[in-house]
Amino acid sequence: MPDILISENIRGAAVDALASRFEVQFLPDLWKDPEELKQLVANVRALIVRNQTQLTADVFAAAKKLVVVGRAGVGLDNVDVVAATKARVVITSTPDQNAISVAELAIGLMLSLARLIPAASADTRQGNWNRQGFFGTEMYGKTFGIVGAGKIGFLAARRAQAFGMKILAYDPYLSPDNILLADLNAQLVDLDFLLAHADVISCHLPATPATNGIFNAERFGKMKPTATFINTSRGEVVNESDLIQALKSRTIAGAALDVRAKEPPQAGELESLPNLILTPHVAAFTKEAQTRVTNTICEDVARVLNGQPAQNAVNRI
Ligand code: MLT
Repeated sequence: MPDILISENIRGAAVDALASRFEVQFLPDLWKDPEELKQLVANVRALIVRNQTQLTADVFAAAKKLVVVGRAGVGLDNVDVVAATKARVVITSTPDQNAISVAELAIGLMLSLARLIPAASADTRQGNWNRQGFFGTEMYGKTFGIVGAGKIGFLAARRAQAFGMKILAYDPYLSPDNILLADLNAQLVDLDFLLAHADVISCHLPATPATNGIFNAERFGKMKPTATFINTSRGEVVNESDLIQALKSRTIAGAALDVRAKEPPQAGELESLPNLILTPHVAAFTKEAQTRVTNTICEDVARVLNGQPAQNAVNRI
C-alpha cells in the first residue's frame, strides 16, 4: 500500500526525495476521476493535490487512514476544510511560495494589454510591419487598483508602483492603518470608488460564496471605458457572459484572464474577442515558484507522517 497519493501533476526533486522515504503513488490525472480518487484515497495516509482535485466531504469520509493533505498552492476552494477537520485530517498549503510569480504575471498582462504586445507579435509574425497599428498607453501616472490586498495583491501593487502608478486597494478585511498599505502609500477605498478611478483593475480574490460573480455587468459598468481588467485569482469571481458584453460594447477597453469559471474551459465567444488576453492558469507556473511550492509541501507532508506538526497547517485538529 502506498503512503502518499499524488493526484495532480506535481513533480521535482522534492517529490523524488519523498519517494525515497515513503511509498508514493503518482497519478497526475486522478483528479479527473472522483470515484477512483475515493477508492484510492481510502488506503493512503497522505494526499498531495493542486487546485483541480475536488476534496469534498465524501472524499474525507472515504479516507479512513488519511492524516494529511498537502495543497501545493494557495487557494483552498477545492478543499472542504470543515470536513477535513472533522475527519482529523491536517490540511497544509504553501500560501507565500508562488505569490511573486502570480504578481509578475499580473504585471506582464497589464503591460501586454497596455502595449498590445500579443496582437502586435501575431501581426508581425504574419510578415506585416504595421507601426501605426499598435498605439499603446503608458502606465506612468495611471492608477492601479487591487481588489483583494493579500500577499499577491500587495506584491503586484509594489511592482506597479515601480512604473510610477498610484495604488488604490479594496479589501473588506483590512483597516486603513494596515502596515502593508502604509508601506505602499496605497489608499484603501470602497469597491465602487476603486472601479470608478482605477485605470488597471487587478483581481486577487479567493473563490468564496461572497466573491462568486462579483465582477458582473453592474461592476464592469462602473469602470472607466479606458480601464483594463486582469484576473489571476479564481475564475469564479467573474461572470464571463457579462465580461463578453463589456468587452464587445467597449464598456471597458480590455481584459486578461489567467483563470476561468470552468477549467479547462470550452472554447466560446471569449476566445474570439480581440481586446482579451487569455492564458491557461499559469500564473504560479515558474521554475522558481514550483520548486518552492513542491519543497514546502513535501517537507510538511513528511513532517506530519513522521508525527511532527505541520508548519503551514490551515486547520487545527
Ligand atoms: C494556486 O492556487 O496556488 C494556484 O492557482 C496554482 C495552483 O493551484 O497550482
